[in-house]
Amino acid sequence: MKVTRLCLWLHALSITGVLVGAFDPITTTVFVGVGATLGRFIYSKFQESCNAKWIFFNTTGLEEDLNRNVFGQHIASRIILKAVSGFMNNPNPKKPLVLSLHGWTGTGKNLISQLIAENIYKEGMGSNFVHVFTSTLHFPHPSQYLTYKSQLQQWIKGNVTNCEQSMFIFDEMDKMHPGLIDSIKPFLDYYDKVDGVSYRKAIFIFLSNAGGDGIAQRALEFWKEGRNREEIELKDLETHLALSVFNNNQSGFYRTSLIDKNLVDFFVPFLPLEYRHVVQCAMAEMRERQLATNKDVADKVAKELVYFPKSERVFSVKGCKTISSKLDYYT
Ligand SMILES: *[C@@H]1O[C@H](CO)[C@@H](O)[C@H](O)[C@H]1NC(C)=O
Ligand SMILES: *[C@@H]1O[C@H](CO)[C@@H](O)[C@H](O)[C@H]1NC(C)=O
Ligand SMILES: *[C@@H]1O[C@H](CO)[C@@H](O)[C@H](O)[C@H]1NC(C)=O
Repeated sequence: MKVTRLCLWLHALSITGVLVGAFDPITTTVFVGVGATLGRFIYSKFQESCNAKWIFFNTTGLEEDLNRNVFGQHIASRIILKAVSGFMNNPNPKKPLVLSLHGWTGTGKNLISQLIAENIYKEGMGSNFVHVFTSTLHFPHPSQYLTYKSQLQQWIKGNVTNCEQSMFIFDEMDKMHPGLIDSIKPFLDYYDKVDGVSYRKAIFIFLSNAGGDGIAQRALEFWKEGRNREEIELKDLETHLALSVFNNNQSGFYRTSLIDKNLVDFFVPFLPLEYRHVVQCAMAEMRERQLATNKDVADKVAKELVYFPKSERVFSVKGCKTISSKLDYYT
């Protein structure tokens, strides 16, 4: 916004210069000249570029954001902070960072991707270097996957050529054609360069519901045994997660070598959310909208959601997903 207004203002200045200068050629030249130089200066100052002014990682920022906005995900928060910090603080990574986030809808996969982007790119999700692909939106027709494949490869190559610190988020990975996933494999590997382009500083994030049921099952077992949710560890889920994702023929990962070649650096499980987490989401959303936080409203919103299993009603089936629209109704 700022840029546009400044540019308009400068433009007006130049025109004024021309009008005034109609009687005085020297003033005209000066005015137009100053306008152009200033314009170039402002352009380079405000136009997002692929450099450390626009792209720098803020470790404390990510840590605080995770603590403040992500609820009930002690495993995911920890892995993400470690993985992203390690990668961003390594001046010479051997391969791009590849994260695969798994869990039921509404558990925070999109939110965490957004927080990562916001703490790397000054422009956050609005950055020209952050690219989101949604399977059902960008690659809807399985029969056209060969077209999508060459398009996607071109895009990734083009964008990383523009800026090696690019980030690619693939939403609904489980709905993506396996052939399409295979086609991005070369970018994720330990190659020095692919066709003269290095992908080692790029970040790839895959989001999917695949494995979500397995994770929920494990969390439910803990709950039934009366154990604390925070006692669930990655190892309780990880093997199970990779296997269930791999063996599920509905999943986009099926038989692709993302898994058997270890191209994914971290499988990140997202636990299903309990009532208390949904309440926290509602409270956070109110804070975000700068409304007075109201626990009664948060309770009302949380009570409206559907919980699983039917008898015990432990986990919100859609996590925190519909909180925002439900809140509209009460406020
Ligand atoms: C990093 O994030 C923290 C917490 O949000 C913020 O206070 C700090 O200003 C940020 N640092 C930079 C360099 O933006
Ligand atoms: C970068 O990716 C976007 C899709 O997010 C695509 O539209 C664009 O053409 C790509 N840029 C290049 C240079 O390939
Ligand atoms: C996927 O697996 C299920 C059972 O595991 C089987 O019934 C189904 O036919 C399989 N689908 C395909 C497309 O292979």
